[in-house]
Amino acid sequence: MTETVKKLTIFDLQAKVDRGEKVFQVTAVDFPTAQLVDRAGIDCILIGDSLGMTALGYASTVPVTMDEMIHHAKAISRAARRAILVGDLPLGAYHASSADAVDNAMRMVKEGGADVVKLEGGEDFAPMAEAVVRAGIPVMAHIGLTPQLMSKLGGFKVQGKDASAGVQLLKDALAMEQAGCFAIVLEAIPDRVAQLITQRLRIPTIGIGAGPHCDGQNLVLHDMVGLFDRFTPKFVKKYGDCWSLISKALAEFQDDVRDGRFPQAEHSFTMKEDEYQALLQQLARD
Ligand code: KIV
Repeated sequence: MTETVKKLTIFDLQAKVDRGEKVFQVTAVDFPTAQLVDRAGIDCILIGDSLGMTALGYASTVPVTMDEMIHHAKAISRAARRAILVGDLPLGAYHASSADAVDNAMRMVKEGGADVVKLEGGEDFAPMAEAVVRAGIPVMAHIGLTPQLMSKLGGFKVQGKDASAGVQLLKDALAMEQAGCFAIVLEAIPDRVAQLITQRLRIPTIGIGAGPHCDGQNLVLHDMVGLFDRFTPKFVKKYGDCWSLISKALAEFQDDVRDGRFPQAEHSFTMKEDEYQALLQQLARD
């Protein structure tokens, strides 16, 4: 019998923050890892467009399409029994118009099974966020380093490092709160700027490379368990080294097969002696 698990809602997140508790969000890209994240008690599973790099091998998140996002979201939605499933809208899904934003947010919820959506951008994208919220889908905002716009930002760079950029980030955050977003991701910004934003917003701030003062923290599972070998951003803490673990298992598998240690009797299937003798007789006749 499957145990009944109560699904968290955006109101549970706000209540946590109001009680002074931290919010946990982890980016996962497939069914088994999402199951691990859900069962660990993480509040939100983000099916982030970073899957372009961690799961699909692209150099950035730029090429990721709605169809690719939905393909992965579907798998994760089967695992997110307790956690809120946040479906990222990729580059091009909402940039041209509010109508696109609503259409693609609807797809993410109806086809992908997400509970809510996330989109990158500040003031310029507040009308799109507002349209999605009005259509009935909760939106998580994402400001600071917004990897979809890395060409405009000049690469994966810390944002908001000078006073005027810090002021703009605060304006962006307030615009997204005003648009009705229920939470906001702050990526790669100075800790004190994140603190000022967190103090001025009612909605939860979820940091990734934004210091300890945010209401919650986000890490990408592939980064935190060492399953992404291209680079490790400064803001990542590695809690495990799955790359070494899996490499060791693959090397040992080859050694075992080569040296006759695998498979053993416990990994093999047997045939009754009389059937085997009958088989040999049939072969001898043919
Ligand atoms: O795609 C992602 O994983 C994200 C997080 C870095 C917030 O957007």
